[in-house]
Amino acid sequence: MESTRLKTEMTRRAFVTSSAAAVIVSGLVPDAAAATTFAEQPANRGTAPFRVIIDTDPGVDDALALLLAMRSPELKIEAITPVAGNVPLELTLPNALRMVEIAGRTDIPVAAGAKAPLMRRLVTAAYAHGENGLGGAVFPEPTTKPVATPAPELIRQIVRKYPGEVTLITIGPLTNIATALNSDAELVGMVRGLVMMGGSLSGGNITPAAEFNVYVDPEAARIVFQSGIPITMVGLDVTRKTSLTDEHVRVLEAAQNPVSQAAAKIGRNAINHNREGGYLVGPNMHDSLAVAGFLDPSILTLQDYYVDVETTGELTAGATLGYSPIAGDLRRRPGMEKDAAAMNVLVRGSAPTLATTRWSPVLRRKYVPNTKVAVDVDSPKFFDLLIGRLSGKR
Ligand code: BDR
Ligand code: CA
Repeated sequence: MESTRLKTEMTRRAFVTSSAAAVIVSGLVPDAAAATTFAEQPANRGTAPFRVIIDTDPGVDDALALLLAMRSPELKIEAITPVAGNVPLELTLPNALRMVEIAGRTDIPVAAGAKAPLMRRLVTAAYAHGENGLGGAVFPEPTTKPVATPAPELIRQIVRKYPGEVTLITIGPLTNIATALNSDAELVGMVRGLVMMGGSLSGGNITPAAEFNVYVDPEAARIVFQSGIPITMVGLDVTRKTSLTDEHVRVLEAAQNPVSQAAAKIGRNAINHNREGGYLVGPNMHDSLAVAGFLDPSILTLQDYYVDVETTGELTAGATLGYSPIAGDLRRRPGMEKDAAAMNVLVRGSAPTLATTRWSPVLRRKYVPNTKVAVDVDSPKFFDLLIGRLSGKR
C-alpha cells in the first residue's frame, strides 16, 4: 500500500513538472517551441486500455462524447456517473443510460450522481441542449437501470480498487468529483489524472467570465483545482474551435450503424436548434474534444498554469484564472522577463477590503503549476477521429 502510494505520488510529480519548460512567453498565444503536446507527458504514456470514469451531464455534446468513448478500444470505462448540469439529473441519468444502450455497452455501470451543486441552486442549459438535453432528439426510454451505489461512492471505490490507474474524464459540473474527494482524504493520491472539459482563460460562455461547467458549481471546481490531482483543462480556449457541420452529420447519416445513426440524429437536431437561435455555426463539440484529446494527445497543445476558481464574485463566480509567471508577467511588463523560480510571491488574490487588516491575500507563496491548459487544437484531426469513430470507419 505504502509503495503504491509512493509510486502514485512520483507519477503525479512527473506529470506536473514534466513541462516546466513549456510555459509560454506571451499571453495565451501558443508558442510552438515552448508548448508541449499531451503525448509528450509521462502521465500520458503507458499501455492501453486506460481505466477511466466519465463524469457527465448529457447534454448534446456529452452524448456524442460518451458514444466516442464507448467506441474507443483504448479506454476501459469503469463507470459513467451522470450529474445535474445541462438538464436536471432526472434527465441526465436516463440520457446516459440511453447512450450505453445505443452503444451496446450495458456492461458499463451507470451511477446516479448529485442532483444539485454543493452550495448553489442548479442552473441548467436547456436553452442550448433542449428541454430533454439531447437537442430535442427523441430516443426510447432506457430499460437498463443505474447501479444502486451513488456516483461519488462508486468513484471512490473504483479509484481505491485501482490506485494510480484511473483517469477521471469530467465533462459536466464537478459536484460528484468534489464529493468523492471530500469523502476520502487519501483518494487524491490514488487518482492518475483528471481531464476536464471546463473552464476558460479567454472568457466564458454563460457569463463573460465563466464557462458553464465551472459556473454551475464553482465551489466543487475549486476543490478539484486545489486538490493536487494532475489536471488537464480542455476549456473554451480550444473547444470554441470545434463546430459540428452539416457535412459531419451527412457522413454520420450515411454510416449504417446504431451509434452513427444516433449521433447523426442528435447532431442534426442540435444544428437546427442553433440555426433557429440565429447562430451561423453548428454547436461546439466541447466534451468530445476532452475525450479525443485523451485518446490522441497530438490533437491538443498544452501549457502549464496555476489555475484557480473565482467563487465569491457577484458577476464573476466560476471564472477560471490562469497564473503563469512568464506569460502573466510579460503581459504586464514587456521586456522584464524573470525566471519562474525567482518569483517568490506570484499567486495574488483581490485587494483587501476595508474590513480586513491584511495586504492582498497571497493564494500561493510559490508558483507551482497545477494544470496543463489546452491552448491550441488541431480541429480537422479532432473531427477525423470523432466522425471516424462514430461512423465506424476507424
Ligand atoms: C460545457 O457546458 C455544457 O453545456 C457542455 O455540455 C459542456 O460540457 C461547455 O461549456
Ligand atoms: Ca457537458
